[in-house]
Amino acid sequence: MAVNARRLEGKVALVTGAAQGIGRAIAMRLAAEGARVGVADIAAETAAQTANEISQSGPGSAVAVYLDVTRLSSAVDAVTQVEREVGPINILVNNAGWDKVEPFVESESETWDKVIAVNYRGLIHCCKAVVPLMRQRGAGKIVSISSDAGRVGSSGEAVYAGCKGAVIAFSKTLARELARDNINVNVVCPGPTETALLRNAMAGREKLLEAMKRSVPMRRLGQPDDIAGAVAFFASADADYVTGQVLSVSGGLTMVG
Ligand SMILES: NC(=O)c1ccc[n+]([C@@H]2O[C@H](COP(=O)([O-])OP(=O)(O)OC[C@H]3O[C@@H](n4cnc5c(N)ncnc54)[C@H](O)[C@@H]3O)[C@@H](O)[C@H]2O)c1
Repeated sequence: MAVNARRLEGKVALVTGAAQGIGRAIAMRLAAEGARVGVADIAAETAAQTANEISQSGPGSAVAVYLDVTRLSSAVDAVTQVEREVGPINILVNNAGWDKVEPFVESESETWDKVIAVNYRGLIHCCKAVVPLMRQRGAGKIVSISSDAGRVGSSGEAVYAGCKGAVIAFSKTLARELARDNINVNVVCPGPTETALLRNAMAGREKLLEAMKRSVPMRRLGQPDDIAGAVAFFASADADYVTGQVLSVSGGLTMVG
């Protein structure tokens, strides 16, 4: 997808988990299309570096914002800061995620709690903080990053896949509730994508990673930029008549009817 340098001109976006990986690529892409972006993350230092790089590249700009999506009060504070320093939020991208790959029977409740807190409750908190403001203004775009694991399951990721399935069901419900408020809610599902999350999950499992690549019809892993283009589309006026939809960006790995 070609970058359209003016498509998001005048828009303000909040991207969670934007310090690195897919979130970073999304924040960069939205700014490359003209948006002013809140780079929100628990990793404050890395978020500041990413925001600086974005502002230097233009044409959009960025500010770093501390956000721990597991706490509603942190989501409210981050939203308040972006609205004060950047402007009314037009676009929310729920991207922050975390996973630990292990067989379900060996997993412990502390791990489930963290996976659910980051991947599912995190999205609920950010929507709760932003939706009332979008509603007052009668417009908004919400794009949430799920996973192909949430559509078809994934060995070693039972609770994570459950959360990602929940992201899809929650988003479809919100899409129905908010359609008449002119707020679009859509979901992007990456397949295996080269980031720290995948590297950590696959450490010591190089053969499995090779097999994963071979199972992708396009025979390569995703790159963060592959995901960012799909998010930019859903965030733009090109998607004004699209809501409650789920798009896999996975080189053809998952084809759901
Ligand atoms: N990489 C993949 O193969 C893949 C596949 C499918 C879906 N995804 C999803 O894509 C999204 C981005 O993943 P990634 O691969 O870029 O991961 P990553 O680990 O590279 O980046 C995740 C970012 O989220 C931030 N984060 C973690 N916990 C947070 C919290 N409590 N509050 C705020 N920020 C927090 C981290 O600091 C980090 O900057 C996630 O939702 C992930 O589940 C990734």
